[in-house]
Amino acid sequence: MKEFMLDKPSYQKLLRNYQQLNQLTLLDLFAQDNNRALKYTLKVNDMYLDFSKNNITDETVDHLVNLAHESNLIEHIQNMFNGCKINNTESRAVLHTALRTIDNLGDKRQITVDGKDVIPDIQHVLHKMHKFSSKVHTGEHLGHTGKMITDIVNLGIGGSDLGPVLVCQALKPYCKNNLNIHFVSSVDGYQILDILSELNPETTLFIVASKTFTTEETITNAHTARTWFLNNTNNNTEAIKLHFVAASTNTKAVTEFGINAADNMFQFWDFVGGRYSLWSAIGLSIILYIGFDNFKELLAGARAMDEHFLNTHELQHNMPVMLALLGIWYINFYNYSTQVISPYNTRLTRFPAYIQQLEMESNGKSVDKSGKPVSYKTCPVIWGDSGINGQHAYYQLLHQGTSIYPMDIILALSDKYSDKLHNQILQANAIAQAEAFMVGKTHAQAKAELIANGMNDTQADFLAKHKVFAGNRPSNMLILPEISPYYLGNLIALYEHKTFVQGVIWNINSFDQWGVELGKQLARTVLADIKSGKASKHDESTVQIINLCS
Ligand code: F6P
Repeated sequence: MKEFMLDKPSYQKLLRNYQQLNQLTLLDLFAQDNNRALKYTLKVNDMYLDFSKNNITDETVDHLVNLAHESNLIEHIQNMFNGCKINNTESRAVLHTALRTIDNLGDKRQITVDGKDVIPDIQHVLHKMHKFSSKVHTGEHLGHTGKMITDIVNLGIGGSDLGPVLVCQALKPYCKNNLNIHFVSSVDGYQILDILSELNPETTLFIVASKTFTTEETITNAHTARTWFLNNTNNNTEAIKLHFVAASTNTKAVTEFGINAADNMFQFWDFVGGRYSLWSAIGLSIILYIGFDNFKELLAGARAMDEHFLNTHELQHNMPVMLALLGIWYINFYNYSTQVISPYNTRLTRFPAYIQQLEMESNGKSVDKSGKPVSYKTCPVIWGDSGINGQHAYYQLLHQGTSIYPMDIILALSDKYSDKLHNQILQANAIAQAEAFMVGKTHAQAKAELIANGMNDTQADFLAKHKVFAGNRPSNMLILPEISPYYLGNLIALYEHKTFVQGVIWNINSFDQWGVELGKQLARTVLADIKSGKASKHDESTVQIINLCS
């Protein structure tokens, strides 16, 4: 075998298809097929994906789907859901989907890892989180001076931060008890000190959220929070149990930190990857913020997408699969090396950052599962921000820059927490941008407009050159009915599965992250150097900079 993806018959067909399609624009493709918009729209659980503004034809879709079949995608999906140890470098199952098998959805499946059914433990922790959050909400769990908890501080980074941040921002209107939520991820003391300065230790609950409970940033922040708490409570160590809880897989480290694991630790397991962990105990901040019923709705939404992904074997109708294949098409054939995520609703502003970790930490790899270097591109750079803000910043480059940047434009159809006119303007802009990216504007059109506005021919000819939009820029339009817990769950699971599919096609392990280790390892030496004021053995540039900091 030559190369996993390159070796597939469909890969060669796609290459030929690309050479033909590269001569045509999106407008040509629409002109050739007046059923295109309808045909290239998927509706799953009331969420729409219109992917008709992509440089594809039926032939492309067929070949991409065949590429997925030739990679045994369906078998890979089943293996993941069934708890096979598909994370082969860590010998771990990948079962974030099992976290969404909640009993009142009627799912009685057993999922075993090393001969043990994982569902009872998942249900147990879910129940424990439910009980704890209810006690906080009803006042059964009070601070040490008998006051209601008013502020939750989540101390975590990466997957122990980004998911809760995204969900709490997106679902702010669902907030329970007017609780305030704070997230501390950076080890920059400014962040935690700034937040602590506004908090009352009598009414604050800290969640130390760390899968490993060894992450330097989080553990440093947890110690700082504990010191602050003790300093402001007359060193009341007894009170810690009312104000510090942990979400982790590492009982030993949690206990060593001083948190009573039996009562105040919410467990999860190695089969939940950090960037897939918001559905686990890492979601405790979410449960406290929006309430358990809304968290269950979030799980149910994700579960609905899981069912669709697992059971839709006609892959051209499988939304995560199609989203993934379109990404493969652009990075591996068109050579477009970034993917823009452009949510228009403000409540989804943190979605690009969340997807950045999800896709780039999962698929930013250059060796296949066996450790052999791959000779094709894998994960593109994922970037983006609020689409409406982007229009007034980096969209200039997207429209007139020298490269092409495929986009996912994400929009909610209605938002009862917004305002009708504001929402209509938001929608109009999202839709218009997708149209502008595709249609563009020719020199002749730009010049005619300028002349119609009174400009003379010479001036118009000159200025029109700067007003040309090449168009033919592809985009997906993803439309949620609303930003509710259910649809947010749907949306997040959609991208999780997209990421998985791409990993399968590229034959890489999407569930390890060895690439984050080297920097952590070197930082330990550099920190010792900075503390001692003396650089140890490094290159000349590193020594020079360490000396500046020492
Ligand atoms: O350094 C990367 C990483 O391990 C991520 O994968 C993870 O989400 C993050 O750090 C936080 O890890 P932990 O939850 O173990 O503190």
